[in-house]
Amino acid sequence: MCLHPSTDIIANAQALFAKNQSEANLVKLLHAISIMLQEGANVLIPIAEGKNVPEGQILLQTQTTDSGLEYVTAFSSKEEYAKGPACSTLERPLVNYFEAILQMQGIAGIIFNPTSDSPFNVQAKMIKELLEDAKKNAQKNAVSIWRGDITTLDCDAIVNAANSTLLGGGGVDGAIHRAAGSELLHECADLHGCTTGAAKITFGYSLPASYVIHTVGPIYNADGDIAAQRLELANCYQSSLDLAYKHHLHSIAFPAISTGAYGYPVEEAARIALLTCTAWLNAHPDYGMNIILTCFNSAVLNAY
Ligand code: APR
Repeated sequence: MCLHPSTDIIANAQALFAKNQSEANLVKLLHAISIMLQEGANVLIPIAEGKNVPEGQILLQTQTTDSGLEYVTAFSSKEEYAKGPACSTLERPLVNYFEAILQMQGIAGIIFNPTSDSPFNVQAKMIKELLEDAKKNAQKNAVSIWRGDITTLDCDAIVNAANSTLLGGGGVDGAIHRAAGSELLHECADLHGCTTGAAKITFGYSLPASYVIHTVGPIYNADGDIAAQRLELANCYQSSLDLAYKHHLHSIAFPAISTGAYGYPVEEAARIALLTCTAWLNAHPDYGMNIILTCFNSAVLNAY
């Protein structure tokens, strides 16, 4: 059974780090925590049942590691909480919990998702750095045009111009599958295809990007319904951005969807891409999405 990304980006990153404890995966995990801090996301804080707790105070559940250090704990989502025994919890913004932990005497840090297969300890020193990083690096809306190979980009998600089977192909589809490795195809096989204009998400595996969002562009037919094809192409960008938003992603790179094997006129495709992306950013003014429109050749670059 394949692992599919949930909208809990901390749990996703923990699962990947557990599979491969590379520095890149550690950076992705810390980035996920930083994003949740920036978004003011809540965590579930387990409460210990204690008898003599003074009025108005609460007793937090803690865990002591083999090295004798005491940590508080937190679940990054209800799904993660459900993996362990039921207990009372408090739901609070992660940023407030982090600030409180730094004031707690004798607490070495926090353990995220203590009952998952891959609990993750963050020590107080790193908590302080994450709080500073989140304040400094608030995400901003932006659209940029970049010439190069999309598979080299270290962003939250790269978009694949796939076909409806999602089982790979040539062009950027082939390049992404080659760079991601065979695990990507295994996960795609579990998705049972994708309709034109829709989008589905997988992990990025060996790619620098954490996720791949697969979308299927229209096959251009000059004698067909141009308005319908225009809408299908716009939907590819819209669906991919909506899916990135749902998964708390803040940087996404697109190829020029449908302008290769699917034959869409490059100028028109570039116009649709830019209009759809800027309209999406205007509809989400405070979210902070960095959109990178990649060009693999000068025709696309000139069109943009
Ligand atoms: N990085 C960025 N852009 C790329 C890359 C790359 N590594 N490789 C190709 N491109 C560009 C192409 O130059 C083109 O501008 O991606 C754009 C889309 O071209 P295709 O990959 O051919 O995709 P598309 O036209 O949407 O056709 C999809 O082709 O590969 C098959 O399985 C795929 O059947 C599907 C069809």
